[in-house]
Amino acid sequence: MLEKIESILKEASEWSAKSAQDVENFRLAFLSKKGKLNQLFDEFKQVPNEKKREFGQELNKLKTKIEEKFSTLQEQGNESGGHSADRPDIFLPEVPDGLGALHPLTLTRRRISEIFARMGFNSEDGPEMETDWYNFTALNFPENHPAREMQDTFFIAKGKEQKDDTLLRTHTSNVQIRLMEHQKPPLRSIMIGRVYRNEAISARAHCQFHQAEGLYVDKNVSFRDLKDTLLHFAKEMFGKDTKIRLRPSYFPFTEPSAEIDISCFICKGEGCNICKKTGWVEIGGAGMVDPFVLQSSGIDPEEYTGYAFGMGIERIAMLKYDINDIRLFFDNDVRFLSQFKGA
Ligand code: PHE
Repeated sequence: MLEKIESILKEASEWSAKSAQDVENFRLAFLSKKGKLNQLFDEFKQVPNEKKREFGQELNKLKTKIEEKFSTLQEQGNESGGHSADRPDIFLPEVPDGLGALHPLTLTRRRISEIFARMGFNSEDGPEMETDWYNFTALNFPENHPAREMQDTFFIAKGKEQKDDTLLRTHTSNVQIRLMEHQKPPLRSIMIGRVYRNEAISARAHCQFHQAEGLYVDKNVSFRDLKDTLLHFAKEMFGKDTKIRLRPSYFPFTEPSAEIDISCFICKGEGCNICKKTGWVEIGGAGMVDPFVLQSSGIDPEEYTGYAFGMGIERIAMLKYDINDIRLFFDNDVRFLSQFKGA
């Protein structure tokens, strides 16, 4: 047995490897299941007890030496051009780099918060799953009021009274109420988040989208402040020459109310497909906070006034990046998303 050990040791130590295959052959010959080392260990079982100690020691030494030799061969292989984690094979096809891009909605959200932050608006957040009270009733949409028809949504649970229903919010205006309940004016916040509506999905409408809500409540806040703020935002977002137009409209929680249009910066007001030849595109709604809403949130309408606005983030992103189908935002198609790498 000792002779065998010696001859295997000799064979192993004389082994030299010129390629990765030689290293592998070494492993197969000595270290694999059917390799020489294992055969010796099998034979060792037959060795008489009084010899076990001596042979055992030799056998273990052999094992260590073979393992050492194997690591040396492996290292040599790496140095002479083998491949490893820190020495990649330059002939392999390129691994695509994992760098992603921010989603166009994220880019737009960030830009909006940035512009308003510079005008002193802090960012606030509210729940997407909301009660009927915060989404409708407190905003002056009484039960069965036709204005509710404009914003059908997904109901999650039915409350005992209508006002306790749980639903997916249809707009970010719910956060207005939540803020006014807990904070005293002056109050100047921007609230960005996801909203839901029970709408048929098409290139122009989706059952989920995002809004940016603004609220400013203080003494002597006027419609003129609202107009100035929106104009400044439009110029920052779409370019210096952008104009705004406020069209009379109706929302139960603002009085007076208006739709916000911006001049079409694609055709510069001349009329194109984006603005449907009108020269104007709508980006949201706005108005002076209705005294009823201030009062039901615990703010004295005799002392304070305020304005609010809500804008569609998808709409803004579609205009800014020339995207013609709202569904692209939610498909997660890399061919679409990777176009925003440089944005
Ligand atoms: N919440 C309204 C909507 O989604 C927009 C709006 C917000 C209008 C704030 C006025 C004031 O249609």
